[in-house]
Amino acid sequence: MKNKRLIGIIAGLVVLVVASLIYSSMNKPAAKVEQKVAKVGVLQFVSHPSLDLIYQGIQDGLAEEGYKGDQVKIDFMNSEGDQSKVATMSKQLVANGNDLVVGIATPAAQGLASATKDLPVIMAAITDPIGANLVKDLKKPGGNITGVSDHNPAEQQVELIKTLTPNVKTIGALYSSSEDNSKTQVEEFKAYAEKAGLTVETFAVPSTNEIASTVNVMTSKVDAIWVPIDNTIASAFPTVVSSNQTAKKPIYPSATAMVEAGGLASVVVDQHDLGVATGKMIAKVLKGEKPADTPVNVFSTGKSVINKKLARELGITIPETVLKEAGQVIE
Ligand code: TRP
Repeated sequence: MKNKRLIGIIAGLVVLVVASLIYSSMNKPAAKVEQKVAKVGVLQFVSHPSLDLIYQGIQDGLAEEGYKGDQVKIDFMNSEGDQSKVATMSKQLVANGNDLVVGIATPAAQGLASATKDLPVIMAAITDPIGANLVKDLKKPGGNITGVSDHNPAEQQVELIKTLTPNVKTIGALYSSSEDNSKTQVEEFKAYAEKAGLTVETFAVPSTNEIASTVNVMTSKVDAIWVPIDNTIASAFPTVVSSNQTAKKPIYPSATAMVEAGGLASVVVDQHDLGVATGKMIAKVLKGEKPADTPVNVFSTGKSVINKKLARELGITIPETVLKEAGQVIE
């Protein structure tokens, strides 16, 4: 009888001990998995609404791939359009121990490319990677550089100009002489425009300081102004618009932000989409893909953006079909 009670008590104790062991093992913190924080260096050439949208897109694309919060540390610099800052900041970003570096706009990517031959360099929205001497082959970059390219849909832009303003015969191309991305675009646009029976006169400015006087000269010589995907012009676009206030020539720029800021219309590549695609490519390279084997992602099809409000002011009627097919209409 006494033994039975003792056995009962012991059995009870055993159950208690086992249960408490199981319980404590369940609550033990899981062994910490070593999570490496991705370090991404970003150099933005200058501030203008399109590049700001691309940088936002890059962060969104990275987040979609899991690089968000404390999984990623972004080392961001902006050279404010200053070439000497491009050089020093590029060296700094390479020296800072980043896993890779990203150049937003051609001059930034070129600065990074000359600062390192080993660290991966990702191009964000580079119009002409070959013309800018960044890669030799878009399908097989070969070196430490790959990324996303925004090829200007020039042929569609020429068609749109002809549809909206059939009386335009001479177009002035306004761009920066210091940007490699613009030179090729101007040549391409000129070729399509001339094929369509238009005349193109080129007006290259060395810096933003010459924009106002150049636009004044242009407005007396041309029927319309065309602007490529050019950082210098984009960063001072309000000056283009104000210098054209009296002449009121239609302005055909190459990005949505410039149409919104007083351009008439364009066919454009979506800036946020470009950024997201860049963010995803950064993620691939962080996971081990080699830039040498990663083809450049080229965006070349555009959607039209129409500033209907401005068209009304200029007395231009936008055909219903154009409005129906437009990607965006500014009322
Ligand atoms: N593609 C430009 C370059 O190669 C950069 C850029 C992207 C840009 N989006 C833009 C410039 C919009 C002007 C407007 O440098």
